[in-house]
Amino acid sequence: MKNKKGFLKRFLPYYKPYAGTLALDLFCALLFSLSGLAFPVIVRELLNRLASDGSVAISAVLILGAVMVAVKLLETACRYVMITLGHIMGTRFEADLRRELYGKLMTMPASFYDRNKVGDLMSRVNNDLFDITEFSHHCPEELFIAGVRIIGIFVYLMFINVYLTLIIFASLPLFIALAFLLNGKLDENFKARRKKVGEINANIEDALSGISVVRSFGNEDVEMQKFERDNREFIEVKSKSYKIMGLFFGEVTFSTGLLYILTIVAGTIFIAKGIGGLDWVDLMTYVLFVQTLYSSIDVIITYSEQFQMGKSGFNRFAEIMDTPNELTEPQSPVTDTDYSGDIKLENVTFAYSKDGKDVLSNVNVTVESGTSVALVGPSGAGKTTIANLIPRLYDVKGGAVTIGGASVADIPLGELRKNVGIVQQNVYLFNGTVRENILYGKPGASEEQMIAAAKAAGAHEFIEKLEKGYDTECGERGVRLSGGQKQRISIARLFLKNPPVLILDEATSALDNESERVVQKSLSELCKGRTSIVIAHRLTTIRNADKIYVITEDGVAEQGTHSELMAAGGIYKSLYTMYEETA
Ligand SMILES: Nc1ncnc2c1ncn2[C@@H]1O[C@H](COP(=O)(O)OP(=O)(O)OP(=O)(O)O)[C@@H](O)[C@H]1O
Ligand SMILES: [Mg+2]
Repeated sequence: MKNKKGFLKRFLPYYKPYAGTLALDLFCALLFSLSGLAFPVIVRELLNRLASDGSVAISAVLILGAVMVAVKLLETACRYVMITLGHIMGTRFEADLRRELYGKLMTMPASFYDRNKVGDLMSRVNNDLFDITEFSHHCPEELFIAGVRIIGIFVYLMFINVYLTLIIFASLPLFIALAFLLNGKLDENFKARRKKVGEINANIEDALSGISVVRSFGNEDVEMQKFERDNREFIEVKSKSYKIMGLFFGEVTFSTGLLYILTIVAGTIFIAKGIGGLDWVDLMTYVLFVQTLYSSIDVIITYSEQFQMGKSGFNRFAEIMDTPNELTEPQSPVTDTDYSGDIKLENVTFAYSKDGKDVLSNVNVTVESGTSVALVGPSGAGKTTIANLIPRLYDVKGGAVTIGGASVADIPLGELRKNVGIVQQNVYLFNGTVRENILYGKPGASEEQMIAAAKAAGAHEFIEKLEKGYDTECGERGVRLSGGQKQRISIARLFLKNPPVLILDEATSALDNESERVVQKSLSELCKGRTSIVIAHRLTTIRNADKIYVITEDGVAEQGTHSELMAAGGIYKSLYTMYEETA
């Protein structure tokens, strides 16, 4: 129950922008519930007249009939308002939560995405939030209606016969307690169910993203088996919830029956013994109200199921909102960073996770202002890791990364990343046209600037040859571009961004010798006068770097210019000779 309290405290503030709408919604709910009570009252009136006179004036019947029609009309109008207004409010509510969640996901650091699967996150952004829409307006409406009805019935019946009313209402807590007991079980089950759906989505996403790998290994069966296992577990989890629900509704049916029996048996005894002047019209009224009473309780129980569903959806939302962003904005930001200054890694120690092993330990690298430094070394040594630390995609564990003397941890993140351009090892193109993808480097740039960037990156020529030129769709929905073409588009992005600090992580690795030469030339042009870090396996491309660092698993193994390192005859020389032999 502790959890529930925290939940409401957290959830209720989201109603704030809709206080007016909710009030109107609840007002309609109030009218709706009162009109529901009017029927048995009118019927009682009719029966009473019949009972006392043995006949009723037709005009009176017609008037009461007209009153009933009016009441129905009011009820209909209220229902209309509640359904439209309520659902629209719920949708806005969902949109608010989704905006907040998406905003949070946008600011989450790379490490968060190392730990969380995209499919699971998608499931949270979509499925989980949808339940909240339904819950956000139905629960207050329906619970309010049911509450008003139960109280109204209680008060009205008390006027007819105190004892019989007390007997009926005294039995209610027992039914309700039972229902809530089952509800608690449902809550746990919903949590498990959501988790399972998240996992299934994550696995489907994984398999579909890697469909070409699945194909090339002919492993469709393997994937199908993995999926089957998940799907079976899904059935198990869901079946369990339906078993609980079965019990639940069984309980509802049985208690409604009991309530009727109780009313009829006790009521008949009351009439027979003449207790409280109860007559058969009163008993009929009781029977009619017991129906409304039980349907109200039924609503409370049904909506408490939706409540649980919405609650567990909200909790999964809250879980992400509460995940601390370990990559925080600086407390006292430095805003006058000299991006043309030296870039330094000073005694940097780094691990991808708190208890993971150190990928870098006590690494020192200096890139002097306006020069180009190359990082070479075996795969997995930590070159990309070093590159990631400069735009602060991750925080260092020890030591510091500085640009122009300012620690990157003290520079506002947005500003830092505007000034550090990076061509990553894995190029990602968004769904959209080639133009949009290049403009990503500098939203709002002119057509000429964009084409100039594409030309500089050696991409203009092939883009022109595409069916729709710059308007060709790429990304998941569009044409399949080759690895090299994608790389050139990503380089064009960088040309457009034109940042003072450049990091090229295997920027030309997917190009053939000829295009590499072209792009390499423009990259050298781009690097001119800027501070840059180049990571490359093709050692010929970095021969002219101002300084070369050889990174191995033990850190910086060698450093110097190409000729110095060749002369030293160490790791670099052997790497280089090996490269030349195989090239
Ligand atoms: N996101 C990550 N989470 C955890 N460990 C990682 C992550 N990325 C890389 N690593 C680990 O860090 C080490 C260094 O990886 P890194 O990508 O920096 O190597 P690299 O020198 O760039 O290799 P390559 O030349 O193959 O690109 C590797 O052991 C790798 O397993
Ligand atoms: Mg790498």
